[in-house]
Formats: sequence, C-alpha cells, structure tokens
Amino acid sequence: MKHSLLQIWLGCVVALTIPLLHADNIPDLFLHDGIALNGEWRSIIDPYETGFYDYRREQRDLGKNPSRSETFYLDVKPADPGERVEYDFDTSPTLNVPGDWNTQRPELMYYEGSVWYRRTFDCAALTAGQRAFVRFGAVNYRADVYLNGLKLGTHIGGFTPFTFEATQYLKPGANSLVVKVDNKRYKEAVPTVNTDWWNYGGITREVKVVILPKNFIADHRLVLESETTRVISGWVQIAGAGAGEAVALSIPELGENLSAQTDATGRAAFHFTPAQLQLWSPETPKLYEVRITHGSDAVAERMGFRTVRTQGKQILLNGKPIFLRGICIHEEFPLNGGGRVNTPAKAKQLLLWAKELNCNFVRLAHYPHSEAMTRLADELGVLVWSEVPVYWTIDWTNAATYENAQNQLSDNIQRDANRASIIIWSLANETPVSEARTKFLSKLAERARSLDQTRLLSAAMEKVTKPGAPNVNVVQDALADIVDIVAFNQYVGWYDGLPEKCARVSWEIPYNKPVFISEFGGDARQGLHGNKDQRWTEEFQEDLYQQTLPMLDKIDGLAGFTPWILVDFRSPRRVLPGIQDGFNRKGLISSEGTKKKAFSVLQAYYRKRAAAP
Ligand code: GCU
Repeated sequence: MKHSLLQIWLGCVVALTIPLLHADNIPDLFLHDGIALNGEWRSIIDPYETGFYDYRREQRDLGKNPSRSETFYLDVKPADPGERVEYDFDTSPTLNVPGDWNTQRPELMYYEGSVWYRRTFDCAALTAGQRAFVRFGAVNYRADVYLNGLKLGTHIGGFTPFTFEATQYLKPGANSLVVKVDNKRYKEAVPTVNTDWWNYGGITREVKVVILPKNFIADHRLVLESETTRVISGWVQIAGAGAGEAVALSIPELGENLSAQTDATGRAAFHFTPAQLQLWSPETPKLYEVRITHGSDAVAERMGFRTVRTQGKQILLNGKPIFLRGICIHEEFPLNGGGRVNTPAKAKQLLLWAKELNCNFVRLAHYPHSEAMTRLADELGVLVWSEVPVYWTIDWTNAATYENAQNQLSDNIQRDANRASIIIWSLANETPVSEARTKFLSKLAERARSLDQTRLLSAAMEKVTKPGAPNVNVVQDALADIVDIVAFNQYVGWYDGLPEKCARVSWEIPYNKPVFISEFGGDARQGLHGNKDQRWTEEFQEDLYQQTLPMLDKIDGLAGFTPWILVDFRSPRRVLPGIQDGFNRKGLISSEGTKKKAFSVLQAYYRKRAAAP
C-alpha cells in the first residue's frame, strides 16, 4: 500500500514518541544485586527550594553554570577560607532510608515541601561496556536526582520504582548522590490534593546502585496459559542485544533447563509444558525458583503459576470458583510511632494479621505497596488487589495527569507482572462519574490490558440511592461496562444511616459480572466501650459488622469483599479529639496494634466461608 509522505512522517513521529512516553524507559532492576544505599543519609529541609531555584526563581540545574554558594546538589565545600557556601551536607542532620521523614522528626510530621538527601558511596571504575544505574523503590512524591553534581533525572509518582542510568557520571572512588524530594500536593498530581491518608514524604523504599554488563537481563514474563494443559509461555528481554543471542531459563524443581535465541528486538521466547506442576493457590502457595542467565548476567526469583478469569458472576482461580475473603490495607504500620511500612518484617506482620482474620485476599489501598509486600503475598498465599492512586477528584482533562497515571499503572504492572498473588489491577477509587472521568479511565483500562491480558481489571466505584426509594441501592456506572469485576464502596450504617438500616436495604446491580464490595466499615476508638448505639465505641463497630454481613450475603453474584480497614491509619482529615486525634479509626486493629471486638466478627464469618466455599 502506497504511503503518503505525511503518513510516513506521522508514522515516524508516533514510533518515536511511544518509547519516549516514559522518559527514563529503563527496566526495573529489582532482581539485580547492587550497592545497597540504605541507612543514614544527610538531609536539608528546604521549604523555599533555595537549593533548586536562585533568587530570581530560575531553576539551577538548567545548565547555566549554577552558583556554588547555594546549589545544594553540587555538594561542594568552600575552596578557600573566603568562599561563601551556604550549606554543608556533612554537618546536616540525618534521615534513615528507606522511611518517611514525617515519623523520624517531630518537626517533619506535617511537613509538605522539599527535603534534600545526600549519600556518598565508593565504587570501582567501570570496565569496558559496563553500565551503571541507580534504582529507587519509591520516592514520594517528586524526585530530582543528581550524581556528582550532574542531573540523572526527575521522577514523579510516589509509589512505583524508577531507575536512572549513571554510566557517564559515576566516578571511580567516592561518589555523591543527591536527591531533592518534594511531597507538595497539587491539583494535577496523582493523587490530587485531597486524600484520606497521610502525605508521608521521603525516600520511602530501598535505593541501590547496580553495575551491569553491556547486555543484561532487563525483564521477563512467564505465564501459565491454562490450568488444564499446564502450558507455560513467556519471554526474556535482553537490553543491548540484537538477534541470535543465547538465553538460558531453568526451573530446577521442574527439571526444566531451556535455552532460546533472542530476536532482532533482543527478546527470547519460551514455551514449555512441565511434566509435573503444582498450581499456586492460597491453600497451596507453591513457588518455584526460576533462574535466567545471559552471558555474565544472571537473575533468579520465586514464581507461582496459576490462572484467573471470570465466568458470568464467578471468579475462577485455576478454573474453580473462589470467594475473596478480604481486607483493605494501607502501607502503614502501627506501633513505634507508625509511618510507612519500610521493612519486610512490617509488611509480613500486616499479612499475618490478615491471615489471622481467615483472609485469602487483600486490597492494597490506595497505591502500589512495596515489592516485599507482593512477594510476601506470593509466599504466604494471599491474593492481591493492586491499585494506582487515581483517587477522588483527579484532573481528568489534563493530559499530563493522564500520562502520570498511565506511567504509574505501567510501572506497577511491569514491576509485579510475575506475582502469582496479584489477580486484580485496580484503576481508581471513588471517582465521581463524569464523561471526562470515564474517558480517562477507559483509556487507562486499555493501557492495562495492552500490558497484561492475564489478570482482571476493576475499580472501586460508588453506589447511589434509587430516586424515590431510599432503601434501594443501585450501582449504575459506565465504568462497570469496562471492568471485569463490578466493585464498589458502600457505607450503609456509617455514612449512610445507622447499622439497623442494613436489614432494610436491597441492591440493584445490573451486570452479568462478579460483584465485589471494595469497602465497608465504621470507626471505633479501641478501648472505648458502651452501648452499641453509641458511635465510636467498639460495640457500635461490632454491631455494624454483624448487621452488614447478612445484608451483603443477599447480593446476587457476590464474589467477595474487603472491609475498610485492617489497621487504624493516620489522616489529616480526622481531627475529633480523644477519638480520632489525626487517625482514621475504621481499623479492626488499633494504631497501637490491639484488636477491636469487630475483628472476631469478621474472623468468624470468614472461618465459616472458608469451611463451606
Ligand atoms: C472512602 C475512601 C477511603 C477512606 C474511607 C473513609 O471510601 O476510599 O480512602 O479512608 O472511605 O471514609 O474512612
């Protein structure tokens, strides 16, 4: 077919822009060992961004010979007794990485602005062809990263990993890595300015420097195509490679030792049927060690193999109907001052509390949790709803906002596509229905499906009350036609009437898809006791659960639910003295780690559900 010059030009433009859609477009390097940079970093609190803008508000890192006196990322010392340098990392206070800054220093608890972090590290000289990268597990919210005074890049988004190449800037011997972290909220951001969680700022997950050969293992996928044929297919992506490069993939426990050649794009395809394969499930969370080698590079990880799909109003795991006995979890740990989960041990404790509730499922709200969390879910046999923070009143018509949401979704899927525990990618939470919002989310759904056809899509929608029928709740949302599971939050008994209303409520959910309640619950101050009609008591919350569960059981096509929420969590919106004190108290466990009476109500209900699936 003849192409006009314009079509050819447009084709080139589109081809060029697609790879640049995501500026750093570098694969996630979680599996590669490196120089771990966890621990104490020097820090400077910089509310006026003095280190980033000069007094005329010109950005210093735009290559106009920035002044040594206040350009913090240069990390210089006075060259002579007369030089004016108005900062000094070496004598500035420290902050621990990974971790939020809010819970490390009282003066930072409510701080929203910029903090500079500096870490020095030693590194051997690179050999010919070697490449150097700096990987961050997550930084909330914007990170400007500099190595030895030179800009590596900027990342926006508080809960997904990012990697910058450092090959040209790394020095043999001592290096200075400086990060400006800015957690200011703003309308066009994702999430936007209003959330019901604490705006924890900082380098909240691990940091490492990774040195790799010219050709290295950049990414891989392995998928169980069918629980009956047990065919596994997938690919390994080699960065820097063209066609004909050998890649080895082995799964020793399955007796699989495979080799394949890369194609012109550096991708090697695999397709095999193990003689014996134990499927992954919450009851039998079987993981296999998968090893990949290419030249001098090698990675390994533990993977489970399972299938998930819907059939009418059922969710099928490995071809069998499953009821999702869930709970919502924020990435926040009670005890010792709280704050962002920053160790695998804290992540594991949250999952163990969920298992103690007899859960087989967790909704990781409202943003991607750490790699440790989803890997622990694989190990412990807990299914996962994974979510991006497209939350409430996002700036739906803003192209940069959409690209930001798309980047966070893509990075979340790229990071966790091999996690057996994750069965649902969630696009949004409680977003007000509008044409612009549904257009934004249907585009996001398309993107998710282009990246991963093996999981289900959902979003936490809202129910409405039928006009003229105050006890009839309806789910009527164009988004329900797009997702695989019709999920919605409902608060009958807390925001909508009192618990006794549950017995009067009926539901109209006109979709031939599984129905999932992504939130319900109510606040209780742990230790506050009284009559069940007294709001904020444990007895009120207990009664709310006792009234809600039979109401939900009546819903046709109910495939599970995740009550809000496992543990009390900080929120600047919750200011009731003596009761909330800056915490949302809907947890079944208090911010001191103490279980409330409603915990055992849900635990008993799930025990029964587990016994008679
Ligand atoms: C909403 C929202 C949560 C919030 C909860 C509440 O449904 O999704 O993030 O914390 O309700 O009001 O407690």
